Amino acid sequence: MSEPTGAARRRGPFQVGDQVQLTDPKGRHYTFTLEAGKNFHTHKGSFPHDELIGAPEGTVVRTTGNVAYLALRPLLPDYVLSMPRGAAVVYPKDAGQIISMADIFPGARVVEAGVGSGALSTYLLRAVGDQGSLSSYERRADFADIARKNVERYFGGPHPAWRLTVGDLQDNLVESDVDRVILDMLAPWECLDAVSKALVPGGLVCCYVATTTQMSRTVEALREHKTFTEPQAWETMVRTWHLEGLAVRPDHRMIGHTGFLLTARRLADGVEPPLRRRRPSKGAYGEDYEAAAGGGAS
Ligand SMILES: C[S@@+](CC[C@H](N)C(=O)[O-])C[C@H]1O[C@@H](n2cnc3c(N)ncnc32)[C@H](O)[C@@H]1O
Repeated sequence: MSEPTGAARRRGPFQVGDQVQLTDPKGRHYTFTLEAGKNFHTHKGSFPHDELIGAPEGTVVRTTGNVAYLALRPLLPDYVLSMPRGAAVVYPKDAGQIISMADIFPGARVVEAGVGSGALSTYLLRAVGDQGSLSSYERRADFADIARKNVERYFGGPHPAWRLTVGDLQDNLVESDVDRVILDMLAPWECLDAVSKALVPGGLVCCYVATTTQMSRTVEALREHKTFTEPQAWETMVRTWHLEGLAVRPDHRMIGHTGFLLTARRLADGVEPPLRRRRPSKGAYGEDYEAAAGGGAS
């Protein structure tokens, strides 16, 4: 049985064309592609790539200046944070949430927009696998180009499950019987007609938005559409820890905000959304709400 796309590049001794992540004594990372006959230069000397070709991961190499660097293949979270960017990427902590909470499964038919730098596309392709499909839409050709290069560098070539279209999702979406739609863009509410048409009953839409105003507008648009279940929203915060002797405590710095996640399921055609169990709190849709929404809750 052949290996899933990209798997052979993730294990075994280092080979030409592999991505290598070096860690210096201060914990700083440097990522490069292995090429026969080349040298890796630092300001404390250099070493030949050939020293790593055929060596196991976890090897330590020394530069001509006698500085030791640990060599490993970058993990996907390292890769997406170090790859060239067009737009801001979905952070690894949120990509993990999307894969889990949007229930992305091997063989799933997934649609995604926008593609930006291709970080989330790479996670989604790994999750759907070679037998699934990911159809990604990006309105900017320059970003689509960056994303394609990033995705293909990660998998070592084109991924058989990936189709990338340049254009707005709402004007170009051709797929039907889609299991999951993931939207990471400024105005997901503009795409709901197209998304609702594409999703299978029980399918799921997941929106990643950066601000509370986007979240609110998306939630109200989902409710108004009447083809989705009541949306759920959440955010995650990850606190890393400092680990040294007795000084075991949370790090002082953390990424305080990335984005909010929002999911809703597609109802069967012609079904009235069940009534919400709890009534909106008094004033939730009062004068202030109308003013903030520009005179209407659309
Ligand atoms: C924040 S970036 C996406 C980042 C991406 N998820 C990643 O992990 O690298 C948002 C992208 O959505 C694109 N976009 C915005 N509205 C769109 C639409 N209606 N259809 C397709 N792409 C859209 C923008 O051009 C931008 O590249």
